[in-house]
Amino acid sequence: MSRGLAKLLELVGDAGINAFYLKREFLFLDIPNHMYQGSLTVEKRSDKNYEVEFRNVSFQYPNTDVYALKNVSLKFRVGERLALVGQNGSGKTTFIKLLCRLYDPTEGEILLNGIDIRKYDYREYMNVFSVVFQDFQLLAYSVGQNIAACAVYDQEKVKNCCQKAGFWERVETMSEGLDTILYKDLTEEGVEISGGEEQKIAIARAMYRDSAFLILDEPTAALDPMAEYEIYTRLNEIVEDRTAIYISHRLSSCRFCDEIIVFHEGSMVQQGNHETLLAQEGGKYSELWNAQAQYYVSEAS
Ligand SMILES: Nc1ncnc2c1ncn2[C@@H]1O[C@H](COP(=O)(O)OP(=O)(O)O)[C@@H](O)[C@H]1O
Ligand SMILES: [Mg+2]
Repeated sequence: MSRGLAKLLELVGDAGINAFYLKREFLFLDIPNHMYQGSLTVEKRSDKNYEVEFRNVSFQYPNTDVYALKNVSLKFRVGERLALVGQNGSGKTTFIKLLCRLYDPTEGEILLNGIDIRKYDYREYMNVFSVVFQDFQLLAYSVGQNIAACAVYDQEKVKNCCQKAGFWERVETMSEGLDTILYKDLTEEGVEISGGEEQKIAIARAMYRDSAFLILDEPTAALDPMAEYEIYTRLNEIVEDRTAIYISHRLSSCRFCDEIIVFHEGSMVQQGNHETLLAQEGGKYSELWNAQAQYYVSEAS
């Protein structure tokens, strides 16, 4: 009984300490969401036949007076491989943030199947997209839980996604397989993984969601050239019947895409496939291509 009482007192003490952190947590959760919430349901289509259109979209980040995106109009069809290229700061990530409604456009509108995306129920709308953002996060849970993004998951499906992302060989070397905990934050048995391996897990996670659009924002930036090559050659398999939007500042990575969109200082300056863009002399694409080709040559020599 005395031990029980001691434990009780200890827990009461802990509760007092934790309440301090919980208070901040609740304050955070109480922040009102000012974003307009629509109620329209997103039509569930097994053929993944969605069409997205940007109509004269411009955007300024809050508290800035420069346009991160200027008058972007663009339509993409289902099943396409679309690439967004451009120098750092040209607005590629901003484009994706608007598409995912992390922000609403300052001017213009974005349409899904002809309807303004603000009118859709946000949660349902999000189910249409899987995104690997540049600054994605993995948590100190097991590999499988990180890929499925939930505690209980379909083992076979996770394995399948791992294989496509090129991470399965690594999982097999782990003592607990998919149950291996990532990082040493919570347990000594946790494994540390490299940036490239983290990216592969993030790609597997995007595939597990099974949505109509797969968006990869600079997905191979932390990968070595061999792993990068592996992802590219697998991309068709990874993407399957989805629409893929592939973002990179390395032009060589995007050659295989059906349609390449070139961003420069927030505007769309060129659009077409690799050959046509390269043939447009004096265009941004050929300028970037030649600059990067030179860079690769001097790297190699
Ligand atoms: N959260 C933010 N607040 C203010 N400005 C931002 C923010 N994020 C990006 N920007 C600005 O918007 C422009 C486009 O950035 P971004 O879309 O991230 O470019 P990219 O992905 O092509 O490198 C840049 O000039 C950048 O400085
Ligand atoms: Mg970016």
